[in-house]
Amino acid sequence: MSYLAKNYNRKKISFVRGKGSYLYTASGIKYLDFVQGIAVNCLGHAHPRLVETINKQSKKLWHVSNAFQIPEGEKLAKKLCQKTFADYVIFQNSGAEATEAAIKVARRYFYSIGKPNKTRILCVKNSFHGRTLATIFASGSKKMTEGFGHVGGFRSFHFWRSQIFRKKDNQKYSCNYDRTYNG
Ligand SMILES: Cc1ncc(COP(=O)(O)O)c(C=O)c1O
Repeated sequence: MSYLAKNYNRKKISFVRGKGSYLYTASGIKYLDFVQGIAVNCLGHAHPRLVETINKQSKKLWHVSNAFQIPEGEKLAKKLCQKTFADYVIFQNSGAEATEAAIKVARRYFYSIGKPNKTRILCVKNSFHGRTLATIFASGSKKMTEGFGHVGGFRSFHFWRSQIFRKKDNQKYSCNYDRTYNG
């Protein structure tokens, strides 16, 4: 009997340790970790420098609210901006939260330029963007949304129906959210 809520259909396999891109079961079977948690553990498992850094920080300070300045966060944000296209960074706890932030940024942008009604987001049907209320409705999937009421502002289209991107139609949307997992 498991005391975990039954909101995931888990595979009957578990792992006791990881090293780099590999995972190991209790009986020592080695797997190449193609899932990476999903697609978030891009630094791999148990890298010695990361272990050392986390260990060091754990002895100093575990968490402080965003209500305060966080010099380590400033340092990481600067590095990320200098090495990428970004001007600013918002740290999020999960992919769903990052998706929610993207939805908010798109809508707020149009609000700020005097187009507050431009709120609809165009999404690929049966995609996956997380499990929050907004992101399940962004998925355009019956399986994800059944029994959860209604959250408006999303319109989905089948991936192969690209004619939906006609210029006239595009003017109605604040953004196209097009990351998808089919299959
Ligand atoms: C494309 C995409 N968006 C959002 C998410 C949600 O991420 P999280 O489970 O961290 O909320 C995932 C997770 O698999 C994802 O693959």
